[in-house]
Order: sequence, then C-alpha cells, then structure tokens
Amino acid sequence: MSVASVAITGIGSLLTNDPELGTITGAAVVFDEGRVVWAGPESRVPDADERVDAGGRAAIPGFVDSHAHLVFAGDRTAEFDARMSGQPYSAGGIRTTVAATRAASDAELDANVARYVAEALRQGTTTIEVKSGYGLTVEDEARSLRIAAGHTDEVTYLGAHVVPAEYAGDPDAYVELVAGPMLKACAPHARWVDVFCERGAFDGDQSRAVLEAGLRAGLTPRVHANQLGPGPGVRLAVELGAASADHCTHLDDADVDALASGSTVATLLPGAEFSTRSPYPDARRLLDAGVTVALSTDCNPGSSFTSSMPFCVALAVREMRMTPDEAVVAATLGGARALRRDDIGRLSPGARADLVLLDAPSHVHLAYRPGVPLVWAVWRDGVRQV
Ligand code: NIG
Ligand code: FE
Repeated sequence: MSVASVAITGIGSLLTNDPELGTITGAAVVFDEGRVVWAGPESRVPDADERVDAGGRAAIPGFVDSHAHLVFAGDRTAEFDARMSGQPYSAGGIRTTVAATRAASDAELDANVARYVAEALRQGTTTIEVKSGYGLTVEDEARSLRIAAGHTDEVTYLGAHVVPAEYAGDPDAYVELVAGPMLKACAPHARWVDVFCERGAFDGDQSRAVLEAGLRAGLTPRVHANQLGPGPGVRLAVELGAASADHCTHLDDADVDALASGSTVATLLPGAEFSTRSPYPDARRLLDAGVTVALSTDCNPGSSFTSSMPFCVALAVREMRMTPDEAVVAATLGGARALRRDDIGRLSPGARADLVLLDAPSHVHLAYRPGVPLVWAVWRDGVRQV
C-alpha cells in the first residue's frame, strides 16, 4: 500500500540539521514513502496529497536516543530514595535489577520495553538504542537482545555490565564467558558491543578483551566510559574506533585530545548525574575542543530512570554549558552520529521522515520551558504517531 505524500506547512521554525538549509523560519516539509522529499521556505512548497498546518509551531528532527537500558524488570525506588538522603550511587545496584530481570517472563520484559519505547515516542524520540545487561547469563542476555530487537534496530550487547554475584570470586572467568559463549549466542541479535569500563565493573584489560572479541564477531564497540571516576575507558574507545564513548564525566586533557582527534562521539547522559546527584560532564570543554557531542537519556532503573530527551536537553543547557541550539542538535544529529546513521537526525531530502512538532515557536523553548510537555505531534517513517 503506498502512503500518500504529506506536506507539513506553517512551520514557524524548522531545525533541519542540514548545513546548507540550516534553521528556516516560515517553512514546510514534504514526506513521501516515509522519506523527506523536500524542505524549505513555505512559499515554494510543492504539491502533496495531504496538507497539515503546523500553525506556526517549531519542527525538529525526531530525537535520537542512542543510549538506553530498557530490558529489565522491577525498579529501584528505595535505592533512589536512599541516595537522595545521602547514600552514594554504586554500580553494585545493577545486581538488584539482574535478579528481578532473570525472574521475569519474556512477556513481562517485552511489555516493559514496549512501555518505555512508547513513553519515549510520546516525548519525541523516534529512534532508540536498547542494551542488554540485566541478564548476565548466556540465556538471559540472548533473550534480552531478542526482545530488544522486536522494538528497535539499534541493539547493543552489554554482557559486560557488571560481574554477576555467582562470578564474584572469579571475574576473569566471567570475562571469558562474555567474550566467548555469551557473545556467540548474542552477536546474531545485536549491532553493537558495549562494556561498563569502570572501577567496580570492568578494568581496561577486561574491557579490551570483550570489545575486541565483539569486533571479531562483527559488532561495533560503544563504551560506558569515565562515568564515576577517571579511567582508561575513553582512550580505549577511541583506540578501538568505537562509535561512542558514553558518560565522559571525568575526563583529563588526554581524554579530550583523544576524542578530538578520533571519530568517537562523546555521548553525555545528564539524567545520570541528575539521579545520582553527581557533578555533570563539561560539554562546553568538549565542544570547544571540536568533539562531536550526543545527548541521550541512559534510561535505566538505577542511575537515570527517565525516557525524556526534552528533560536531558534542558539539563544540558542549564548544567553543562551548552546553548539550546547545541543541545537540540546533540539530541538529534549527535545521536545519529553516535549510531553511525545518516538517514536520521536531520530533516532534508533523503532522510527518514521523523519529525516532531513542538507547541512552541522555537526549539529553544525545550530548555526555556523545562518540564512542560511541548511535544505536540510526532511522525516516524512519515506516519503520524502522536
Ligand atoms: O549507564 N553505568 C552503567 N550502567 C548504567 C547504570 C545501570 C544501573 O545502575 O542499573 C548507566 O548509568
Ligand atoms: Fe548506561
């Protein structure tokens, strides 16, 4: 069945993320067959089968959330509550969610992923990456990835999230499992391999072993790096040609130089600093050094239980010295770069027809009006979803 072409007219301000088109005031966009076929000033809009009047609202590309952990059961309300009365965040809390996830049925996990993907979509997210990492057995990691793949093409194998309790006495044996039989069972369902490279999780050598095995199995690395303290994660990510180094909260000059000279995107996750009451990463330092920055939610029950990209944009502007423009670009085009995609994160001919209309005259309002539900309509693949 062929889908009618749609012209969205009356767009007050259109952020295209296209270097030639820029941000257009008084704009229109035309979709056909799920793709953008035209974007430009409204006065020149070509004919289409249908017209939608945006009424002067702002349009942006759908958000690209390139970092989320959605395959889990239960939550960690008590842990959050304790943190807000002074307890520190620890990676060990992951094991609580591992126990709940292992005990859950496939149907429960699938329903949870569906719920969080839908929640994100209502807030303008049209592409979301989903990681495993709360199964930590061959079977539970493979089923997590199978479930994730039912909801997104951007699936990440994170068997190296933390050493599970049953391997506490022999972490290297767990690394061998992750880089061996678990990887073999998981690689067919995933595009990416990730490691939590951090004190209390996996050190530089263990992380390298997992990422290199992943590369040999045809997966591309992305790395949880330098979240809770300084460490080798960022430089390892750049050295291995990872698509993204995520968190990047504790960086020294060598880390920033490595990111600036390589092709690895720095993905910042301010929801994690918010929910763990920790200092935010310095986005300004990275942008000024020429690093490509992405913004994502890190949606997970432990360190950042939000699926809201608008919330992350507002945090990035207020707390990380990003301009509103930089933050919205990082949440759209930046995420696309972190996923090595050039068909999303922009609104220019050839791109996937993923568009968000904001009930506001400009995308600056995402930071200017924090906490206000400004997402007014969402198209994905040219089909209206919200
Ligand atoms: O990205 N850093 C590791 N993983 C998650 C936290 C997971 C959890 O606490 O359950 C993160 O912040
Ligand atoms: Fe994460």
